[in-house]
Amino acid sequence: MTILDGKELSQKVKKEVKQEVEQIKKKGIIPGLAVILVGSDPASKIYVTSKEKACIEAGIYSEKVTMNEDATQERILNKIDKLNKDENIHGILVQLPLPSHMDKNVVLQAINPKKDVDGFHALNVGNLCLGNNSLIPCTPLGIMRILEEYEIEVEGKDVCVIGASNIVGKPLASLLTNKEATVTLCHIKTKDLTVYTKNADIIIVATGVPNLLKEDMVKDGVIVIDVGINRLENGKIVGDVDFENVSKKCSYITPVPGGVGPMTIAMLLQNTLQAAKMSEV
Ligand code: GUN
Repeated sequence: MTILDGKELSQKVKKEVKQEVEQIKKKGIIPGLAVILVGSDPASKIYVTSKEKACIEAGIYSEKVTMNEDATQERILNKIDKLNKDENIHGILVQLPLPSHMDKNVVLQAINPKKDVDGFHALNVGNLCLGNNSLIPCTPLGIMRILEEYEIEVEGKDVCVIGASNIVGKPLASLLTNKEATVTLCHIKTKDLTVYTKNADIIIVATGVPNLLKEDMVKDGVIVIDVGINRLENGKIVGDVDFENVSKKCSYITPVPGGVGPMTIAMLLQNTLQAAKMSEV
């Protein structure tokens, strides 16, 4: 069994991005990322601080915009409009979740698709689906990079993705389909998960349910990617997979923490660099 070390790989990606940032700076372009945080959700605050720190380390200009929980939708739309026009900003990220009085779809679609480093705009989602060049959501992109790095071929493989979110499951299903994997996208209404997981060569779990994937649900030699980050009552951070027991049957598995999590931020930096490069032409 091999551990897929996302922490180490994320450091490699960050280093690559940093080197390219130095090159592009010589051409007079300083990649810039704006992160908008509305409200005071503790987890979101931590994520935004980590994103800022990673930008600074990579030489990327970072601008944090904070708004109170009761800020109007008009205010965030005005800010996005300004950032869309700001030549120093190449990437715009609105940290989710947004307060319930805001319409997430309206807010995300207001971002210039060329600055949409989360890849959530309909134009980028559509281009991803078509297999065209686009900005791709960071977590799925990080997962594909892990598979590539460990030379895990997906072509012709049976891949079971559990969790059909817009952030992870759906874009991941498109990426894998574009690479000619046979993808089953399971979700909360799936009648019998084991029917699909037992047959899968690769299982990717992104549900936010601790211990969802158990030993008796997988076949020998399976490859497991765990996207979950769950804090238990005792403070321990665990994924969506019963790591201790499932890992015994795996050929490869990601740990939590230190698997997919660190890759998400690394790919955000890569997307910001890509957006800055796109602004050149
Ligand atoms: N909240 C949880 N994951 C994400 C993400 O990938 N992007 C944004 N913008 N918000 C999130």
